[in-house]
Amino acid sequence: MSPYRSALITGASSGIGRALSLALAGPGAALHLSGRDATRLDDTATACRAKGATVQAAVLDVTDAASMAAWIAAAGPLDLVVANAGISGGTGNGAGETAAQTRAIFAVNLDGALNTVLPALEAMRAQPARGGKRGTIAVIASIAALLPTPNAPAYGASKAAIDTWARASSPAAAAAGILLASVCPGFIRTAMTAANRYKMPGLMEADQAAQIILAGLAAGRDRIIFPWWMGLVARIVGALPFGRRLLARQGSKAALPDPARSGT
Ligand SMILES: NC(=O)c1ccc[n+]([C@@H]2O[C@H](COP(=O)([O-])OP(=O)(O)OC[C@H]3O[C@@H](n4cnc5c(N)ncnc54)[C@H](OP(=O)(O)O)[C@@H]3O)[C@@H](O)[C@H]2O)c1
Repeated sequence: MSPYRSALITGASSGIGRALSLALAGPGAALHLSGRDATRLDDTATACRAKGATVQAAVLDVTDAASMAAWIAAAGPLDLVVANAGISGGTGNGAGETAAQTRAIFAVNLDGALNTVLPALEAMRAQPARGGKRGTIAVIASIAALLPTPNAPAYGASKAAIDTWARASSPAAAAAGILLASVCPGFIRTAMTAANRYKMPGLMEADQAAQIILAGLAAGRDRIIFPWWMGLVARIVGALPFGRRLLARQGSKAALPDPARSGT
């Protein structure tokens, strides 16, 4: 039985967000789900309703700060908010990252996450505490946050920024009774990684990732890095003076086909 009766998740139309939504769905669960693709979002909502959850689905772009704030404020009391929506793109065009790709990735992965977490913090601060706790907020960063990846500079940097921001902000959130957690997954099999043309050690299914994330949050962890051994390897490679040269030999992730759309 999930400890989260009401949850709000961005990027619920695919991959990890869809898996989290399904893992939380059940009788008594109230889910607020968003994404940009109405058909895939509706598919997630229907599957969650079939498991007994009440679902409000909203087609929203996380870069639209005003709409995100209005959506979150209108959701009512929330036990869990997950800033999951993200895009990825690398240097796969052979010419490095374009300015448009760099800005698109930061806009979704950093600004979009802040557009979710900042209104969520405000809303949770105003809701009553139960047993000293007001709620849980998670940002889905990445193990890419732990090391500079030459094949996807904007992706890694955007994830490092949101990871550092969440970790630095979590003590103040904790003082207000809110668990603010940064989640750093390794490779998860989703539409995002389907574009990768290189080895993905430890590749994991999205439903397994969702279980690990929810168990870590329920245990009160404010940083969840998995698989643990990949986190260790990333820190070691990131600390080596020749680490970036090693990483540069890894194949390149495909460039974003259209910076205005997801990497999916
Ligand atoms: N897969 C991995 O190996 C991996 C590893 C570490 C971290 N992550 C992170 O996990 C999160 C989920 O990724 P995933 O692997 O599940 O990828 P995915 O299957 O491509 O799903 C990405 C989700 O983000 C949504 N999204 C993208 N841009 C958006 C925008 N501007 N506004 C609203 N929603 C937007 C997409 O919605 P629409 O398609 O409806 O636009 C989709 O639901 C991302 O933050 C990603 O960086 C993934």
